[in-house]
Amino acid sequence: MQVITRDFFLYLSKNKALNRAAQNWGGNIAAGKIVGGLNFPSSIKFIKELNEEGLSVTVDHLGEFVTSTSVAKERTEECIKTIEMIAAEGLDSQVSVKMTSLGLDIDEKLVYENMTRILDTAEKLKIMVTIDMEDEVRCQKTLDIFKDFKQRYTYISTVLQAYLYRTENDLNELNQFKPFLRLVKGAYKESPNVAFPDKADVDENYKKLIKTQLLSGIYTAIATHDDAMIEYTKQLAKDHNILPNQFEFQMLYGMRTATQKKLVKDGYKMRVYVPYGNDWYGYFMRRLAERPANIAFALKGMTKK
Ligand code: FDA
Repeated sequence: MQVITRDFFLYLSKNKALNRAAQNWGGNIAAGKIVGGLNFPSSIKFIKELNEEGLSVTVDHLGEFVTSTSVAKERTEECIKTIEMIAAEGLDSQVSVKMTSLGLDIDEKLVYENMTRILDTAEKLKIMVTIDMEDEVRCQKTLDIFKDFKQRYTYISTVLQAYLYRTENDLNELNQFKPFLRLVKGAYKESPNVAFPDKADVDENYKKLIKTQLLSGIYTAIATHDDAMIEYTKQLAKDHNILPNQFEFQMLYGMRTATQKKLVKDGYKMRVYVPYGNDWYGYFMRRLAERPANIAFALKGMTKK
């Protein structure tokens, strides 16, 4: 039953007609729940509050699988403006961006142009830009883009997904660049030809990746809401004298808020992923696929005045 629910929401997450309807409807389904605000300026006050509570942030302008060059350019402008505002306001925040929002499905040259502009600004203002990892068919292209830019820019990082068979090799290959990486389990619907179908195998692989990265001494983000993975990381750090300033935990905004604060209180660095914008549909459906209990949560958001 759980698998059916997950597959159903992941199927819906890619439904273009529903995505368009959601944007036109304009309802911020999860306002105050899982989305920071409808635009970046309206999210600033709220990011400051998170910072005051000791939480670092990464912001993501919602929107993915863009198929129009002009929209990809708008997304680029938005990303640049966001980086500039983060610096101007002195926020403790990074930026996350999806390559399909910058035109990966249109023309790779366009992505390179857009990313160059974003990274030029980020480098100047010393704001980290993380390339989110999307579905497996786009993984190689995304990693190629990352590797290319990483040789010229410092303020760039990306994400590796534990559910993919290929990830262990990717991690070893990427480590020659000593990159700041975010490790996640993976959020898309993938075939058993490319991804572990069993959760237990994903968890084992996730632990393996965490161990490789933490023992390598490269600063790493462990992005999970799973207590078992958090405890594993803490114990590993303790056993190998890895200091808390060599890694950070990351969680999505609205998820496990008490645990986020507790980690900060216990001396760990905690970064919250705050999405903003009205293109919330795909993001939201993936969250429902991960945890149907989020439905109740969302319904409250829909009826919230
Ligand atoms: P998982 O879903 O495996 O759940 C394990 C256990 O954790 C549950 O049984 C429950 O006990 C607990 N749990 C999980 N969620 C909970 C909740 N909301 N409340 C209470 N308990 C909960 N994916 C991707 O493909 N590309 C990307 O770029 C990113 N980026 C990203 C950034 C950040 C900051 C995060 C936190 C996650 C991502 N992801 C992602 C999503 C990621 O791949 C994954 O789908 C989700 O984090 C869900 O997996 P978990 O490891 O959190 O726990």
